[in-house]
Amino acid sequence: MSFDAKHGTQVKLRSQIWFDNPDDPDMTALYIERYMNWGITREELQSGKPIIGIAQTGSDLSPCNRQHIVLAERIREGIREAGGIAFEFPVHPIQETGKRPTAGLDRNLAYLGLVETLFGYPLDAVVLTTGCDKTTPALLMAAATVNIPAIALSVGPMLNGWYKGQRTGSGTIKWHAKKLKTAGEIGWKEYVDLVASSAPSPGFCNTMGTATTMNSLAEALGMMLPGSAAIPAVHKERAAAAYLTGKRIVEMVWEDLKPSDIMTRESFENAIAVCSAIGGSTNAPIHLNGIARHLGLELNNDDWEKVGHSIPLLVDMQPAGRFLGEDFFRAGSVPAVVAELIAAGRLPHPDAKTVNGKTMGENCTGKFTEDREVIRAFDQPMLADAGFLNLKGNLFDSAIMKTSVISKEFRERYLSNPSDPEAFEGKAVVFDGREDYHARINDPSLEIDEHSILFIRGAGPIGHPGAAEVVNMDPPAALLKRGITELPCIGDGRQSGTSGSPSILNASPEAAAGGGLALVQTGDRVRIDLNKREANILISDEELTRRRQDVTAKLANGGLSYVPASQTPWQEIQRNLVDQYDQGMVLKPAVKYQD
Ligand code: FES
Ligand code: MG
Repeated sequence: MSFDAKHGTQVKLRSQIWFDNPDDPDMTALYIERYMNWGITREELQSGKPIIGIAQTGSDLSPCNRQHIVLAERIREGIREAGGIAFEFPVHPIQETGKRPTAGLDRNLAYLGLVETLFGYPLDAVVLTTGCDKTTPALLMAAATVNIPAIALSVGPMLNGWYKGQRTGSGTIKWHAKKLKTAGEIGWKEYVDLVASSAPSPGFCNTMGTATTMNSLAEALGMMLPGSAAIPAVHKERAAAAYLTGKRIVEMVWEDLKPSDIMTRESFENAIAVCSAIGGSTNAPIHLNGIARHLGLELNNDDWEKVGHSIPLLVDMQPAGRFLGEDFFRAGSVPAVVAELIAAGRLPHPDAKTVNGKTMGENCTGKFTEDREVIRAFDQPMLADAGFLNLKGNLFDSAIMKTSVISKEFRERYLSNPSDPEAFEGKAVVFDGREDYHARINDPSLEIDEHSILFIRGAGPIGHPGAAEVVNMDPPAALLKRGITELPCIGDGRQSGTSGSPSILNASPEAAAGGGLALVQTGDRVRIDLNKREANILISDEELTRRRQDVTAKLANGGLSYVPASQTPWQEIQRNLVDQYDQGMVLKPAVKYQD
């Protein structure tokens, strides 16, 4: 037993089962012998001090999170000063833009690896070094499963990108540059210069992409020190946050403050409200639903619409707005957004607990921004009703639409006028995966015009193992040259959080699982009624049944032609075990393991 004088508690530390276990001297000797071999002493290992893991996600393969290698020094100093011992270890690398075929495949792999590490080694608590898109949910999912005290430390965004006096934001500038190049306005060299200008320093994407979204939501869930999600990676405040995070996790051991005490149903509802207010990524529902499942909580896309849709967009940040990570940080970041929601009575649960031992309300009340350009007042938002819509119909049981990026005209015509509701109808043009889209988008025989709806399928968790970020499809070059820069897109893939396309995405079940997208054919009329939250192919029930039988037969006989074979063992394993988007894309057998 260890005695904690500050809190007056007697605690049996988990690590003492390894290093200070008089009932098992054989194994204790063996454990101590080897861990001492680099110079840590027996006295330290048997001091009754908690051993704190630092789950290190930074590496040369993961440039977004690489600054965590530097920050770990300050985390260690905080841990030591608070009376703990730091053990740093690597997490399976995840790099959103560098991993082929997709980093989406690696979230569950990193999760599995971290669960084994936290469970099987002498750790009393863990600092989760979050950052690039999938790293944050992977680490929170593992902390949820093992449920030892855990605190997240964001690596923080890159500094703002600039090009010829204009802000250039990660990802968002790439989608823009690609349109310019396709339309012949810039050449290859300027294309690369423009894109590279958006990444001027260590850190993660400086737009409100999935990285800023997920770190902001980790803070909104209560798993990060208040105000720390959005500090740029190279600011002094970032290193100070690392130190304070290290100090705080040691106290959390003595308080026995666990992920399940913090990540409750209430805190997930808070995070959903914050996601709408910041204009968060469409990857957020997948990840939050997944984290919730590992805690044994029910959370689905209906909850996202119910809690989140009526929340306004308050943060003016790319892709929905103008600014970038440095601006968001200086304007007060997450606490300033939460302060607006609290003042308006729209944070669902201000009494939800956070890692610093205080509630969201205690941490954020009155922390209003001093920069109303970047963070708007609740009653003067960028946009009302900015949360996701959850659509249903014969095309899918659930698909998400990010309303904060829909154009004003489109919104007014199809969504904001319930007294004169109008649905949009169009001709389906169906692509079987990304290669098919690239091969045929400019094929004149498809007769794509402004009344077409582009479909992409075979891009879901099973169809393109890990799910591809491909739903935001550009119109054909001929349309781009005429100034038509967007067509409605629907797919069973995901979409980069940095993209501003008004897509209907994350369709569940996906085509490869026999979902409605497997039934649609080029030339079908499709009707999307946003007011009713419906999306349907307009064909007879008989024809629908006939197509469904056809797809069922194909699935039973070796699968759909556009679903490729697995290339690695993990691709095959994940495909066999993975759940659909609205169920968090988790590994189905994993969710029963809790604590
Ligand atoms: Fe890593 Fe965007 S690619 S954060
Ligand atoms: Mg991404």
